[in-house]
Amino acid sequence: MPIELATNDAVEIAARAIRSGQLVAFPTETVYGLGADATCGLAVAKIYEAKQRPSFNPLIIHVLDLQSAAQYGNLNILARRLAETFWPGPLTVVVPRTPQSKIAELATAGLETIALRVPAHPVACALLRQAAGPIAAPSANRSGHVSPTSAAHVCADLGDAPAFILDGGPTPLGLESTIVAVCDQQATLLRAGAITRDELQSALGQSLLEPCRGGKYAPAAPGQLARHYAPRSTLRLNAAAPGIGEAWLAFGPVGTAHQGAFFNLSPSGDLREAAANLFAALRELDASAGEAIAVSPIPETGLGEAINDRLRRGAAPNPSAA
Ligand code: TXA
Ligand code: MG
Repeated sequence: MPIELATNDAVEIAARAIRSGQLVAFPTETVYGLGADATCGLAVAKIYEAKQRPSFNPLIIHVLDLQSAAQYGNLNILARRLAETFWPGPLTVVVPRTPQSKIAELATAGLETIALRVPAHPVACALLRQAAGPIAAPSANRSGHVSPTSAAHVCADLGDAPAFILDGGPTPLGLESTIVAVCDQQATLLRAGAITRDELQSALGQSLLEPCRGGKYAPAAPGQLARHYAPRSTLRLNAAAPGIGEAWLAFGPVGTAHQGAFFNLSPSGDLREAAANLFAALRELDASAGEAIAVSPIPETGLGEAINDRLRRGAAPNPSAA
């Protein structure tokens, strides 16, 4: 069993595991998180794999303080007011990503926004300090299950997918963080959580918008994000080969004789590598001159299901509504 009592030594070893691209489950004041180096696409792909989620949901990026948060997200006055009032603590803010941010695109599922949180739990803070970088971490449960509030819950759900499960006892709050999206001078409550609406509104000095009334970053429906990156070009899925004028999004050992724009998600046919490359590949081919992108078949197994889900949305007639 990968459960380790969260001693200083264990946290140090776990931080090394994070830096080397492995997964570590750790306690926060809300629930246990399943963490990976947020700057490493391959490590982030392991999170989706372990959770067995059939689609890519953007992850919360955990950082040590407001100053680090500001490296990855543009926090305007409103977002800073929230951060200064509630961080460290159970609040996640969704703000525009900074350009050239080092965060892997897979961690934010290709969105222009990023969810940031500074946790208050001593083990989470020690891990962040020692890992010396941002940690992407969803709740450490298998997709569709409830969030874990003890190391034993994590182990029951994820087994030995994490290299370590740092046991810091039961989580004090037991409820996920509140998520607020801040766009211009408006704040939208995306997920109710440990910090209440009243607490937020009194810190903001204004009312929160409801997600259905739609701030720019609000989900169109529960679990559905309005602003997923939608390619401009048409995607032609399960293509054996590209046609004339088409860009080619390949997978597996294919020849590279193609004249047009070309990106191989994984020449060796590794789905983890393909997931890590997916959003950057779509952007790159989309920026090329071709009107359409031919996409090689991708197996529906493991991470392939989430990759295909994303590609199917991109191929739908009106992807901006997906
Ligand atoms: O308390 C918590 O927030 C825990 C601990 C581990 O920090 N984490 C957590 O993560 O609950 P997760 O992945 O289970 O839930 C994060 C939610 C998802 O529903 C995701 O859609 C949303 O945050 N989210 C992340 N990035 C977003 C973005 N850019 N825009 C809108 N929603 C976002
Ligand atoms: Mg969750």
